[in-house]
Amino acid sequence: MSDHASSKAQSPELAAHGAKLKVAVLYGGQSGEHEVSLMSAASVMEALDDRKYEVTPVFISRAGEWAIPLDDLRKFDVVFPVLHGPMGEDGTVQGLLTLIGVPFVGAGVVGSAVGMDKAIFKDVMRAHGLPVAKHIVVRRRQWLSAAEHVASLVTAQIGFPCFVKPANMGSSVGVTKAKDVQQLHVGMAEALKWDRKVLIEQAVPHARELEVSVLGNDELQASVVGEITPSREFYDYAAKYLDKGEAASGLHIPAPIPDALAHRIREMAVEAATLADARGMARVDFLMNGESGEVFINEINTIPGFTDISMYPKLWAASGIPYSQLLDRLIALAMEK
Ligand SMILES: Nc1ncnc2c1ncn2[C@@H]1O[C@H](COP(=O)(O)OP(=O)(O)O)[C@@H](O)[C@H]1O
Ligand SMILES: [Mg+2]
Repeated sequence: MSDHASSKAQSPELAAHGAKLKVAVLYGGQSGEHEVSLMSAASVMEALDDRKYEVTPVFISRAGEWAIPLDDLRKFDVVFPVLHGPMGEDGTVQGLLTLIGVPFVGAGVVGSAVGMDKAIFKDVMRAHGLPVAKHIVVRRRQWLSAAEHVASLVTAQIGFPCFVKPANMGSSVGVTKAKDVQQLHVGMAEALKWDRKVLIEQAVPHARELEVSVLGNDELQASVVGEITPSREFYDYAAKYLDKGEAASGLHIPAPIPDALAHRIREMAVEAATLADARGMARVDFLMNGESGEVFINEINTIPGFTDISMYPKLWAASGIPYSQLLDRLIALAMEK
């Protein structure tokens, strides 16, 4: 895949004025994915080349307190938000950085917000003819006032099993699989802890989970396709982060799928990221019906998991861009936009 991974944006002319680039790494944050951010940021900070960068970790507490005054962000050449979920990956931090005029890694306000909200993201995909699993969107108010009615709609239009997920979250926080109406009630209560808006989605049968990494500003490149084989019934929080060693979920790079299918999925990944306006970086996740071969776009992550064993960097490593070079590229892309 070196044709697609070939370097367009060169490594930043870091030492143009003889000094190292001052990079702030934002991590922690207020979302349910705080812990995941700690893991991602530790890897990023470890791998940023200290001959090129002067790295300052900027911790954000669960309560939203920043380790430095916000105005001090202006002192940096570039900010790398390694924040997952709401209040970090959703356009809020991107809006702040845009306002104060500091370049930052990853998608801007619109791409971040569209990527964060699973309901809006799916509407955008559907509007452009890209395949998404059938779902309905339910608001807290609707559920609290007419749960029985919603449950009968789900039974008639979506069926069981179905997935119940908060619209704005990630890392499978709040996501459950409901096999009947009773489990739908339990799942709704769980999802509503995290968001006022919930997706109830048809389960893709025999689901295979395929993922593609995307990189670039105006011209997006796609990595090879990877596949995840979850250690549990689905790829829930425990399957992602808690199961270790023998019991861990599997990452298969490249995914064992025919070339033509991989090609189509990579094209769809670039199209999805372009439509969502997710410049810089994104990981686009697919669900494929393992029997029929039907493919659905599941979601996009504009700040994907970033440990050195995470799918986003591993897909690039397999496509010819090792971890620390990937960080160089992302910083160069941030400076270029
Ligand atoms: N429609 C679906 N069919 C089959 N599995 C699903 C479906 N939706 C979600 N899942 C499972 O739940 C996991 C988490 O859902 P996802 O939409 O990716 O949310 P998150 O943003 O939290 O990762 C997926 O990786 C997959 O294992
Ligand atoms: Mg996911």
